[in-house]
Amino acid sequence: MPQDGRIETALARALALAKAEFSPPLLAAALPYAVFPGGARIRPTILLSVARACGDDTPDLTDAAAAALELIHCASLVHDDLPAFDNADQRRGKASIHRAFGEPLAVLTGDSLIVLAFQVLAQAGQSAPLRALQLIAALSQSTGAGRGICAGQAWESEPQVNLHAYHLSKTGALFMAATQMGAIAAGHEAEPWEDLGKLIGEAFQVADDLKDALSPAEALGKPAGQDVVLQRPSAVRSLGVDGARKHLEDILSGAIASIPSCPGEAALAQMVLAYARRIMEIPSASARG
Ligand code: IPE
Ligand code: IPE
Ligand code: MG
Ligand code: MG
Repeated sequence: MPQDGRIETALARALALAKAEFSPPLLAAALPYAVFPGGARIRPTILLSVARACGDDTPDLTDAAAAALELIHCASLVHDDLPAFDNADQRRGKASIHRAFGEPLAVLTGDSLIVLAFQVLAQAGQSAPLRALQLIAALSQSTGAGRGICAGQAWESEPQVNLHAYHLSKTGALFMAATQMGAIAAGHEAEPWEDLGKLIGEAFQVADDLKDALSPAEALGKPAGQDVVLQRPSAVRSLGVDGARKHLEDILSGAIASIPSCPGEAALAQMVLAYARRIMEIPSASARG
């Protein structure tokens, strides 16, 4: 999927908001290190696709929403890699933030990116305050302790894991935010878009479990085989490789069927199909020894 210049520009503009005359230089360097170069940028790409399908009549607000969503995602990766969580040395093909800058700055980088996400929405929303408030509500719900990323990561500290709630919060929440925020930014109702985000999130999680089990670390740009090492619940552990592949196909067909009717429905279905083709490109089971 081609990278969208809108996303990179919106992120650069967002990071400029965090700069001040007396910013501590290491924290100021760690923020762009955590955001650029990006990974797949899949969440803001979905957000823009939904906004375009809904008419995208306030593109500046859409850009801010896309940047805010990706900032939360980047923050979640910074915190997820910390020794207190997955203790990962690599992220996106380079040293993880705590390896490059130390743990205190990694904690603060994640914190700062989360705050920046909401600052971006607050600032961009001055021309469309009601939409901005709805965007802030959707993003905070997907980030927080109820059913957001914080809840998702917290399941890993529970003695008994509710697998459905774990995946829905850890991964699904930001995909639901992607479709809902795309609709909200373009002045549409968020609720009809919830299922599409949830299903793309489920597909992403199953594909991620397959990649973790089958891809070499060099291809991932981060440690591989972590689900087994960290004893995380995974679709491959519960369904096997073939079962997980079949489950992935079923979820993706459901995702395409769930697209609400809107002016750009056909183009959006094409985008989901292209994404489906990409995430189905998982190496065969023999790829890792
Ligand atoms: C990785 O997400 C974290 C999970 C939720 C499993 P991505 O695979 O979207 O990471 P980047 O942004 O492309 O690096
Ligand atoms: C990534 O989750 C972080 C969040 C979704 C909050 P994982 O730990 O499963 O993903 P990777 O393998 O580190 O990208
Ligand atoms: Mg993790
Ligand atoms: Mg991790």
